[in-house]
Amino acid sequence: MTLTEEITKRRTFAIISHPDAGKTTLTEKLLLYGGAIHLAGSIKSRKTQRHAVSDWMEIEKQRGISVTSSVLQFDYAGCRINILDTPGHQDFSEDTYRTLMAVDSAVMILDAAKGVEAQTKKLFKVCRERRIPIFTFINKLDRYGKIPLDLMDELENVLGIRAYPMNWPVGVDGKYLGVFDRQKNLIELFADDTTHGQKERASEIFSPDSAQVIDRIGQENFDALQDDLMLLDEAGESFDKAKIDAGDLTPTFFGSAMTNFGVKNFLEEYLRLAPPPAPRLSSDGVIEPEDEKFSAFVFKIQANMNPAHRDRLAFIRICSGKFERNMTVWHAPSDKLIKLSQPQQFLAQDRQIIDEAFPGDIVGLFDPGIFGIGDTLTDAAHKFKFEDFPTFPPEKFARVQAKDTMKRKQFAKGIDQLTQEGAIQLFNQVGAGTESYVVGTVGTLQFEVLQYRLKSEYGVDVLLTMLPFEVARWLKFNDGTKVTPASLRGADRGMFVLDRADNPVLLLENEWALGWISDNNPRLEMNATPFDN
Ligand code: G4P
Repeated sequence: MTLTEEITKRRTFAIISHPDAGKTTLTEKLLLYGGAIHLAGSIKSRKTQRHAVSDWMEIEKQRGISVTSSVLQFDYAGCRINILDTPGHQDFSEDTYRTLMAVDSAVMILDAAKGVEAQTKKLFKVCRERRIPIFTFINKLDRYGKIPLDLMDELENVLGIRAYPMNWPVGVDGKYLGVFDRQKNLIELFADDTTHGQKERASEIFSPDSAQVIDRIGQENFDALQDDLMLLDEAGESFDKAKIDAGDLTPTFFGSAMTNFGVKNFLEEYLRLAPPPAPRLSSDGVIEPEDEKFSAFVFKIQANMNPAHRDRLAFIRICSGKFERNMTVWHAPSDKLIKLSQPQQFLAQDRQIIDEAFPGDIVGLFDPGIFGIGDTLTDAAHKFKFEDFPTFPPEKFARVQAKDTMKRKQFAKGIDQLTQEGAIQLFNQVGAGTESYVVGTVGTLQFEVLQYRLKSEYGVDVLLTMLPFEVARWLKFNDGTKVTPASLRGADRGMFVLDRADNPVLLLENEWALGWISDNNPRLEMNATPFDN
């Protein structure tokens, strides 16, 4: 197969959702339809059994959750699919956001009864900024939910994205019988779910004007469907592939992951419309995936997957060329050549050593402590750097210090390494000395990971004190003078800190305090992430 053929068949995406919307269930069903598992339920049971089977971080075993995102790969209908997991629940972290830097599209799941929820909004925003195509799956249609037209409005009004329903439910809320496929102009009616969603669900296809349809769904449902469709055709968005590709229009599917209602059609339409690996911007212009010379970047570092060896895995996303085991590449930040041995890939939950991989694929590399988030790897004959990763606004803060002051040196080293890796964001409180640091993260689990890793890798027990702040703002005056605690009105309403590059940052408890600072410092400019200089 040529490089172009390999690229064309790849689809690399993440599923974004609020906890409990059905991400695990839908992922599992995609694997079921892709033939990667034979009976749904195996991943779910793994979720609960993880305690026994996982050889990943100890903390993961203790809590029975996945600390960092994993990657699943399978084939379906000629496509090679890479699903990058975005951890939700308590393990929501910067990793969740960073995963979105490595995908070419996203599937957003909404619970039909709940609509757009808080975490969906945050993840959506990151995807929107990257302008990647977003496909929406409205889940849990097997039970009562909001009416489909209201959900369409919600997408538009809450998220600000226009939606094009690819299918439309047939029947009444809570008892839908099937879906009308607007692209194929067909009605698919589902047989009863007799296997509790463990196996593919049987369905029958009808032309919408066949006499059988009214027989099967009843005149009332038929009329209601016609009314909705007319409304969608007249007042709704029209299908526009260019807008989908630009992330301005979200193709929307209704279904139920649990009962396999509309899942197969969703998978097939998604694969048809979702983009193959996209070109990326670099210091040397746009890098096309078809470029014969290899390039990739690190988007995640996972520590201690095997506690016996204390190893770390750096996950890379391949951007161009062909990856080969034992190849030597140039590592941009260190300006060194590195041999990539023992690369690992992931089929469902199993890891295996791989020999080759292509753009869009994710490979796990053993990291001897040289990789950081966002690092570029390229062919030695074509050196360049991909665009830096954005910084994500920290929302949780804690003061961290070594319990044993004799261990200050190891403590500082550990903190430094974890900051460089991108596990935490580090701040210094002005005037607080170097005994302690202020650490910012996106989710609270990162603090547990920090505590665990400082102990297991650096032998340092730390004292962690949560701080009451939830908002960080990088500061500058509009005339270019530097903001100091003395020059800022109300600096004592929060905590004045410096980031690693000595940029001033104010930590505040809430939006109200933020409003006060803004109102009382007319020359002040504030940003949720560092200013671009
Ligand atoms: P998540 O990964 O997004 O957090 O969600 P997950 O798939 O774990 O699903 C959360 C809950 O919603 C689960 O119920 C799951 O069975 C249920 N669910 C997922 N898809 C559907 C659907 O299409 N219809 C309905 N009615 N429920 C759905 P649970 O009770 O928390 O877990 P379990 O006991 O079913 O495993």
